[in-house]
Amino acid sequence: MVLHTTINGEAVVAEVDPSMSIAEFLREKLYLTGTKIGCGKGECGACTVILDGVAVTSCIIPVMRADGAEITTIEGVAYSPEKLHPIQEEFINNGAIQCGFCIPGMIMSTKALLDKNNNPTVAEVREALGGNLWRCTGYVNFEKAVFAAAESMRNGE
Ligand code: FES
Repeated sequence: MVLHTTINGEAVVAEVDPSMSIAEFLREKLYLTGTKIGCGKGECGACTVILDGVAVTSCIIPVMRADGAEITTIEGVAYSPEKLHPIQEEFINNGAIQCGFCIPGMIMSTKALLDKNNNPTVAEVREALGGNLWRCTGYVNFEKAVFAAAESMRNGE
């Protein structure tokens, strides 16, 4: 089947196997390997992308759901090759990055939240990001990074 979609602001037309997931499509057809596949069952959040403004676990979404839709992946988050997004900056500044496997998904969930609400409560952050498992350590630095990024975004950075 032929898929028409928009990925990171670019129109994409591709012949796809409809049995693929969006995660497989991104990684195997478009070589956008920043989206990771961990559990492959919708349980860990490593594969999170933003689909029409909503954070989704792309490993369990059929590729044809992307037809006519807009997807943002981790490759589309930085403002430019020289300028990271404030969320990326604050993950680095707050020590919220370790091995990096789960980080793209966590950044995408954070972006989906902060694009709609750049002044979230702790409960709202935990609710929005509860589906993302952090493989290396606890969640303290991660939450610090989210709130620092929210402040940066409120300040127009
Ligand atoms: S890889 Fe998709 S939720 Fe774990």
